[in-house]
Amino acid sequence: MRIDVLTIFPKMFDAVMGESIIKRAKENKVVEINIVDLRLFSKDKHRKVDDKPFGGGPGMLMSAEPFFEAVNYIRRETKDLRLKTRVALLSPKGRRFNQAFALKLSRYEHIVLLCGHYEGIDERVARHLVDDEISIGDFVLTGGELPAMVIIDGIVRLLPGALGDENSCKDESFSAGDGRGRPLLEYPHYTRPADYRGMKVPDVLLSGDHEKIKQWRKKEAVKITRKKRPDLLKEDTWTLLESWKKIS
Ligand SMILES: C[S@@+](CC[C@H](N)C(=O)[O-])C[C@H]1O[C@@H](n2cnc3c(N)ncnc32)[C@H](O)[C@@H]1O
Repeated sequence: MRIDVLTIFPKMFDAVMGESIIKRAKENKVVEINIVDLRLFSKDKHRKVDDKPFGGGPGMLMSAEPFFEAVNYIRRETKDLRLKTRVALLSPKGRRFNQAFALKLSRYEHIVLLCGHYEGIDERVARHLVDDEISIGDFVLTGGELPAMVIIDGIVRLLPGALGDENSCKDESFSAGDGRGRPLLEYPHYTRPADYRGMKVPDVLLSGDHEKIKQWRKKEAVKITRKKRPDLLKEDTWTLLESWKKIS
C-alpha cells in the first residue's frame, strides 16, 4: 500500500512514522508513506496556504488550491501504476473512524490523507476533491496531523505482513468478536507470574485445555463488552452467550 499525507507540518510525522510497527512495515515494503509538504503546491511567492474567510469570522482558512494542485500532482504521478486510490480529508465533520472503517481503507492500494489546520479548509475541498471525510472523534483538534497518524497506524497494522503474527489482529477488540463478524471487546490477557500478590490468573488459562480456553475467552469477551460497551452488543450475541453457558 502507498499512503500520501498532505500537511503543512511534515516534521510532526517523523517520530511516529519512524518507530515500531510502522517503521518495520516501511522497511519490509508493506507500506510506502510519503509525507508531502503542502506549501510546495502554493502558487504564492511566500508559500502561503491560508486566507481570510469570506463573510468574516475568526481565524484563517486553508485555501483550496494547494490541495487540488497536490492531489492532481499525486494522481498524475501514480497514473501509470493504476492504483485503487482513496482521497480522504481529516475533519471533525467526517464519518467516525472505527475498526470497520480501518479495514475498508486497508483494502485500497493507495490512500491520500489531507490535513487541515487553523479554522479548517475551504469547503470546495470537501465537496469536490475528496472521497471521504474522516473524523477520529467528537472533539476538535488543532490540525489533521494527529488524526492522520491515528488512521495510518490503524490501517498499517491490518496490512498482511505488518504484524509479527498475522493472527494478532483477528481476535482484537472491535474485530472478529463472536466469530460471526460482530465487534466485541477483546478477552482479558495475563502473563507470568500466575499469582501476583494474591491476584491469581484464572485457572482455566493454566489448564492447558485449548478448547476450554477458547470457550472461556469467548464468554469473557461478551462479558467485558456487556460491562464496558453494551452499545456494541447485538441481540443475537445474547443467544450465543446462552449457548456458551450450556457448553461450560
Ligand atoms: C481546528 S480544526 C477546524 C475545526 C472546524 N472549525 C470545525 O469546527 O469543524 C483544524 C483541522 O484539524 C483537523 N481536525 C480537528 N479535529 C479533528 C477530528 N476530530 N477528526 C479529524 N480531523 C480533525 C481537521 O483537518 C481540521 O480541518
